[in-house]
Amino acid sequence: MPSLDLAVVLAAGEGTRMKSTTPKVLHEIAGRSILAHVLSAVQPLGAADLRVVVGSSREAVETHLAQIAPNATIVFQAQRNGTGHATQLALDGAPATGSVMILAGDTPLLRSGTLQEFIDAHHTYESAASVLTSVVPDPFGYGRIVRSDSGELVGIVEERDATEEQREIDEINTGVYIFDIAALRAAVAKLKSANAQGELYLTDVIALIKEDGKNAVAILSNDYTETLGINDRSQLAECGAIMRDRINDDFMRAGVTIIDPATTWIDATVAIENDVTIHPGTTLTGASTIARGAIIGPRTTLNNVVVAERASVLESYVSEATIGAAATVGPFSFIRPGTVLAANTKVGAYVEVKNSTVGEGSKVPHLSYVGDATIGTGSNIGAATIFVNYDGVEKHATTVGNDVRIGSDTMLVAPVSIGDGAYTAAGSVITEDVPAGSIGVARAKQRNVLGWVLRKRSGTKSAESAKKAGATDGNNQ
Ligand code: UD1
Ligand code: MG
Repeated sequence: MPSLDLAVVLAAGEGTRMKSTTPKVLHEIAGRSILAHVLSAVQPLGAADLRVVVGSSREAVETHLAQIAPNATIVFQAQRNGTGHATQLALDGAPATGSVMILAGDTPLLRSGTLQEFIDAHHTYESAASVLTSVVPDPFGYGRIVRSDSGELVGIVEERDATEEQREIDEINTGVYIFDIAALRAAVAKLKSANAQGELYLTDVIALIKEDGKNAVAILSNDYTETLGINDRSQLAECGAIMRDRINDDFMRAGVTIIDPATTWIDATVAIENDVTIHPGTTLTGASTIARGAIIGPRTTLNNVVVAERASVLESYVSEATIGAAATVGPFSFIRPGTVLAANTKVGAYVEVKNSTVGEGSKVPHLSYVGDATIGTGSNIGAATIFVNYDGVEKHATTVGNDVRIGSDTMLVAPVSIGDGAYTAAGSVITEDVPAGSIGVARAKQRNVLGWVLRKRSGTKSAESAKKAGATDGNNQ
């Protein structure tokens, strides 16, 4: 397989058109930076040397690169004098011979396979300079590919330097090139900034290499969507939507049912097994993994969540949590970081759980807050129970044992512990531990004041109904 001696990613530009304090290449689509998408297409090509030219917001980009491409050599371009200047710097200390691929850091949809085909074509044509091109519906803003009447590559002209006639050309420069390193080195040394932007354009090396009598070719790619560049927020959204469709397509082909791909947003970093069903309006982000047979959505967000087989999560928001096999969550649950739901658990409607473990088969079915708790197996937390974990200064933990029955509307004031098999009476404010097998009752004893309505609310509908039911004013009882 023909290989590369060097790959260079140009990522020093200001990204002015993004109008952002975040450098352009660090903006994200599908949960990954634009730059990370480019690098994930380049890395499998196995270039002996990988260089990334950074400049604008250097520190932020370098920190990010240390995480996503620790082997890359960073080249610093202090002043943005154009893509040609960035290339000059990248070639400093690079191998003297062989081939180099250069690409922009702002084209995140490129696929590795397409780049490999481009490498193969470059070697087949025995070209000194190859440029990957595409035919796009709206070429505005891109460099145009100028060909001779016989179709041979003549050069590249930028939008701002193009004539009216050249602007009609719909074949554009994708910003991906392969060069013979020696030929490129000679050509970049001759670049001049006599153009609309006063910069050294890498695009000008094509004509210079041709002038040297060497072979330069334009290779048209099949899928123009792969070659779209991001320069503003509108293009960010456009590329994000294309990436979404691509990710969804891949999952559907792998056996995942996605009911409405247009409203399903899955990060490139998410793993999903086959026979998972995803309902409309679902967003899956980060390192989330969904196991076989799970049902997710509608209108559900999972961020860094591990979902085991056959679990279901309905109309809920879950972050940094683990959901066990056949567990059911929702509708309208809010599951926060540090939560572990074991197999066959249930977290139901309007329940919030934070930093808590719910043991196998235990249920929190309705209207509760569970914070900093450890709940054993087979326990039931009655409706509207609150784990009172915050004393206004610090958070405290609660332990609930196995096969416990917490009565509805219990306040478990932490730190507190409920023993195995224990009960709490509905409406209790539990401030002391309840031993195994006991019932904790912590509420005022009920007192009925007979005839009160007839005496204090006479003439009301309540009093009339009470009278019909045989109630008296209580004075004669
Ligand atoms: C560039 C091409 C254009 C092509 C388009 C494809 C030139 C002159 N034009 O235009 O023909 O159609 O890409 O997307 O090359 N950069 C640096 N240092 C600089 C300037 C830019 O590293 O001094 C980097 C940027 O960070 C970016 C890439 O080079 O990743 C391209 O620069 P950008 O300003 O986006 O060029 P385009 O106008 O898109
Ligand atoms: Mg660009």
